[in-house]
Amino acid sequence: MSRDGKDLTGGPQSRTGGDAVFSSTYGRLAINRAGSTLAESRSVQVSPLVSEAPVAADTAARNPDVLPEFVKQFSWIVPANDLGRWSNSWEDIELPEALQEATAKRQLHFRAGRYCALRALEALEGRPVTTVLAQTAGGAPLWPEGVTGSITHTDGFVSAAVARTSQVDALGIDTERIMSVERAARSSAAIAWPSEMAHMRAIGFDRLEALTLVFSAKEAIFKCLYRKVGRIFDYRDVRIVAAVLHPGTFTARIVQTLSPDFPAQTLLHGRFEINSSWVHTGMVLSSGLLRA
Ligand SMILES: CC(C)(COP(=O)(O)OP(=O)(O)OC[C@H]1O[C@@H](n2cnc3c(N)ncnc32)[C@H](O)[C@@H]1OP(=O)(O)O)[C@@H](O)C(=O)NCCC(=O)NCCS
Repeated sequence: MSRDGKDLTGGPQSRTGGDAVFSSTYGRLAINRAGSTLAESRSVQVSPLVSEAPVAADTAARNPDVLPEFVKQFSWIVPANDLGRWSNSWEDIELPEALQEATAKRQLHFRAGRYCALRALEALEGRPVTTVLAQTAGGAPLWPEGVTGSITHTDGFVSAAVARTSQVDALGIDTERIMSVERAARSSAAIAWPSEMAHMRAIGFDRLEALTLVFSAKEAIFKCLYRKVGRIFDYRDVRIVAAVLHPGTFTARIVQTLSPDFPAQTLLHGRFEINSSWVHTGMVLSSGLLRA
């Protein structure tokens, strides 16, 4: 991120060293995106159709390539309508008071997210972790001292990423299923400026992919900055101003000052990956620079 030229997020960072903490057992599948150069050069590991071949409960999904190598991430592809089948993996994880009356799906998503967070924390610490991860009033997970992280869950995919605060001030991840036409029609005006859609269309995405990517990038930005900013902010307070396909990177500009540390014109950098029907985004806020 830059403020008057200062880059706080450290710019796009490659994870090509492949520090997936838990390697996948899935076969390799070339992404086939008609009309996109992605199809020519990208080959990623994704699960088979999860509804036909459920992932073993002890198997982590391949982590999306949206974070620096030192971040530990644990991802899980879970059959969308079959979450409960895996619940024995995380039935010990306590629900907060606020979720006691929530739907079964919401409770399962919460527990699955915490499960992934504990596995990611174990990778970071190199030992078993049973920490209870509470929630802040704003809904963000309360990470152990010296750790920051982020959780996402959507139909069929759950993930958590953690890092030491000695390395990053904050991070945010988000995964979304590519939006339906109906959802896009309902939400596009609130989420995306025409110029943001134009940036995404210019690098080869169709309208639904473009909107989902703008949405996911803003959700990742929100999760990354929320505790630093100290309040909720709007999709229109931040604008995507650039995107590159290889590697998948985006740049956003704060258009309404969010806090003294995040004034208007600040640039934020993140990464994205689109595979199967998911859009994954991630962003880190570089350690120390906020305090400099
Ligand atoms: C909170 C929000 C970002 C969650 O995103 P989502 O796509 O709906 O859901 P995801 O599954 O990806 O993420 C949910 C997780 O985000 C985390 N989260 C929730 N609120 C959070 C916050 N204020 N800060 C950081 N992380 C938060 C939680 O871990 C949550 O899972 P859990 O409740 O099971 O622990 C979203 O619901 C929201 O309120 N957005 C409005 C604000 C916004 O995005 N503004 C855009 C600014 S550019």
